Order: sequence, then structure tokens, then C-alpha cells
Amino acid sequence: MSESLDAFARHKLAGLESAALRRRLVPTARGPAAAAERGGRTLVSFSCNDYLGLSHDPRVIAAAAEALARYGAGSGASRLVTGNGPPLVALEERLARHKGKEAALVFGSGYLANLGIAPALVGPGDLILIDELGHSCLFAGARMSGARVEVFSHNAVEPIRAGLRRHRGSVRRALILTERVFSMDGDRAPLPEILALAEAFDAWTLVDDAHGLGVVEPGARAPLEMGTLSKTLGSYGGYLCASRPVIDLLTSRARSLVYTTGLPPASAAAALAALDIVETEPERAARPLALARRFTARLGLPEAQSPVVPVLVGAAEAALALSEALEARGFLVVAIRPPTVAPGTARLRVAFSAAHSEAQVDALADALAELAPDKR
Ligand SMILES: Cc1ncc(COP(=O)(O)O)c(C=O)c1O
Repeated sequence: MSESLDAFARHKLAGLESAALRRRLVPTARGPAAAAERGGRTLVSFSCNDYLGLSHDPRVIAAAAEALARYGAGSGASRLVTGNGPPLVALEERLARHKGKEAALVFGSGYLANLGIAPALVGPGDLILIDELGHSCLFAGARMSGARVEVFSHNAVEPIRAGLRRHRGSVRRALILTERVFSMDGDRAPLPEILALAEAFDAWTLVDDAHGLGVVEPGARAPLEMGTLSKTLGSYGGYLCASRPVIDLLTSRARSLVYTTGLPPASAAAALAALDIVETEPERAARPLALARRFTARLGLPEAQSPVVPVLVGAAEAALALSEALEARGFLVVAIRPPTVAPGTARLRVAFSAAHSEAQVDALADALAELAPDKR
């Protein structure tokens, strides 16, 4: 019986391999100061989303260790049963305050948050408009909702207006999905324009702030602000900040909250300690963007809008080869290939951290200028 299953898997893998799209898990031991050990070599990582280096901050580690010792390794049940420990409650209060919202809801991950939010708010007979470069979990939540899903060109406002004009009269509810900072491109959504359109057409807006929290000026806030604890906050988990009634509704209706175990207390405590640092150390929070701009200026690339800078390569094989050449020089910059990005737009996604030194950033830029002079 399982022969056909294995044959199927082998056949699919061969297809992925021949298109340079097979993915492999590589053991990687991360350390402080953006270090990542692979195959016995210590590399400088430009591929972590730990933008402020907080996953290794002694204060964050101490907060997690204390919660671990006090409340145990796991939360024991879903949050609605007994898995709603004190660190989660405290974290929600702080997240809401940080975002200027009435309330917050912490999920098991950012992916789970996005799987739960849209289906709890819209369904068949409703409309979702989503940026074509939206994260996979935004699309997954949109499709699970059963609403009509229309995809608009990246960061374009006119197709949103057109979509709302065309459908708003015939749908009960309309939801716009976008990101504050796009994960693979590092550019930023035109939020003031989108929010004004949403207001004019009585549509709702969900902004995914996974890559913006703490590292870019937020500007306009959407009614629905979701994000993750796993990037700037150096921990694990996801959240939604919104009004009290919306959070109360999601607490009852988001299936990816109701039917899954609560986040471990140590993860919540770590994120809370990290949020303290984000709020009290603005110079640290400003550093990744400053380093990203130093890098784009040195290479003559368009000025970075966030700590994420794409170096477009094109073919998947070429992106892999450039990544390998950089690794040989001591830099870990993982190649990003389809389907994470569109075919023909494979790239190196360079992520800057407060943990990097100026010298490391300059060395990476110089290595890239030498290895891929056409990228300047
Ligand atoms: C834009 C965006 N949204 C959501 C997620 C999912 O967050 P998490 O890693 O917490 O599941 C990610 C990253 O993984 C992301 O880049």
C-alpha cells in the first residue's frame, strides 16, 4: 500500500529537485550577536527575523526562565480551559497598550492568528480584498473564510477602490488584508490611503505587522492589527490587537484559538520582557533600519524602507549559488525561492538586526558587490 505513497513522494521530490525548488532542513545553532553555526562553522546570519537581537537578550531569557520554573513548560490546555496563565494575560494588556487598542488576543503563532481572524469576521456572501504579496497565512485565512477573495496588485490603491465600488453594494461585509512591512520585499503598504478607502466604503482593514512592530514608525493604525511574537520580540506566538468587542468575539469564534493549546507561559513572559525593551530603548529599535539603509546606500540600491532588503536574483539556481558563495565567506543569507516569491523573482532576503555591527554590514555589502556586481 505505502509503495504508491512513497512513489508519489519520490516523483514529486524529483520534480522539485530538477527545478531547484526542493527545500531541506539544515541544523542551525543560533547564538548571540547574530551568530549561526552550520556544519561546524560559525556564520554571521542575515536571515533571522530577530530584528533587535532580543531572542538572546539576558533579560528576555531570565523572564522566560522564571516563568518556566513557576508555571511549567506547557500551558496544559486551551486558553479557554486552563491554559490562560498570568504571563499571557499580562502580555495582552501590554500589547494592547503598545498598539493603542482596547484589547489584545494572543494566539499560538502568527500563522494561527491569521487562520483564525478572517473566518471569524467574514464568510460566504462577504468580500475579502488581499494584496498579491500577502503572506501565505493571510491567504489561508481568507480562503478558509468562504468569502469571495479578490487579489489586488501589490500596494496598488486603485484596484481596492474598484473592487469596493463593484461589490460593496452586494456584500454584507468587506475586509481588506495587507501588511505594514512586506515580508519578502521589505516595502510598506500605503496605509493612510487604504484606511481612507475602507472608511469611505465601510470596509474593515487587517494589517499584518509581523515585520513592522518595534522597527519602523507605525504611522496609521488599522482597526485590526495582528502580528507575531517571533520576530522583533524574539519569542514565539501571535496576536491580534483591536477593540474590546472584536477581541471578545474572536475569543469565542476564532477556531485557531479555541481548539488549540495555549501558548507556553515562558514564550509569553519572554515576549513581555522584549516589549519592555522595545519601548524603553528607542536607539536599539532604530538600529536595524539604519543598518539596512547603510547597506542599500553602499550598494546603490533603492533606500531601505524597513530592516528587510531584497537582493533580486531571478532564477532559483542562481539565488542558491549566490547564497552558497556568501556562505563560503562566512555570511548566512538564505535564498528565497518560489512559491514563497513569484517565479523568476528568486532572491536573497537580507534581514538586518540591532545585533549586527557596521563592519559586518559593510563586509556583506562588499562581498555582494564582488560576487554579483550587477546587483549594485
Ligand atoms: C507577514 C507574516 N505574517 C505572519 C507570519 C507568521 O508568523 P509566525 O511565524 O508567528 O507563525 C509571518 C512569518 O512567519 C509573516 O512573515
